[in-house]
Amino acid sequence: MAPIKIGVLVSGRGSNLQAIIDAIEARRLEAEIRVVVSDQAQAYALERARKHQIPTAVFLAKDYACREDFDRAVVRCLREHQVELVCLAGFMRILSPYFIAQFRDRIINIHPALLPAFPGLHVQKKALEHGVKFSGCTVHFVDEGMDTGPIIIQAVVPVLDDDDEEKLAARILRFEHQIYPRAIQLIAKGRLRREGRRVICEGSREEVPGRDEWGYVNP
Ligand code: GRF
Repeated sequence: MAPIKIGVLVSGRGSNLQAIIDAIEARRLEAEIRVVVSDQAQAYALERARKHQIPTAVFLAKDYACREDFDRAVVRCLREHQVELVCLAGFMRILSPYFIAQFRDRIINIHPALLPAFPGLHVQKKALEHGVKFSGCTVHFVDEGMDTGPIIIQAVVPVLDDDDEEKLAARILRFEHQIYPRAIQLIAKGRLRREGRRVICEGSREEVPGRDEWGYVNP
């Protein structure tokens, strides 16, 4: 099977992008990053892409009259690079219905909480304020809502008594870096099947459920 052609959309530091690059280079992920798209010219993620000779493109909101015009330009770019799967990795813009329709069921996102708990922004703050004992991260398909699409993989991470936002975010981030490449690989291998909102993982479950000292990953 040919590697799946992905486009990664970023706005910031790009540690999830790096995890995807590393997984590809380690041959754990059969994917090819065709382009990294940023809405921030200074995003460190762009540096990471350039270091690995991955094409980059920057689109600035101020250059477009409305969200859909912006999204049309990004979609055109993704099509030019023959992208089959769009991976949002810290991309800080809501996609328009136009964009989502263009890549229906072919857009995924990583979110640093156990959805449907704590969607949106300031996620660790919300989790700490609520007093949850476990949080984690979620890879999900993107639909028109805010972090509402069908869930592909989650990892569960404990919240410790002396956590602040930074400590909790760091503990969760380690798992983001595991589950995002894994989710892409499941899609690349055609192992996901949808039953309504449920995403079923087919085939052998060699390493499932994953576990390390801090949490659980499923599938
Ligand atoms: C991650 O915490 C991700 O879950 C959220 O945005 C952050 C992006 O971090 N959607 P990075 O740019 O991948 O380092």
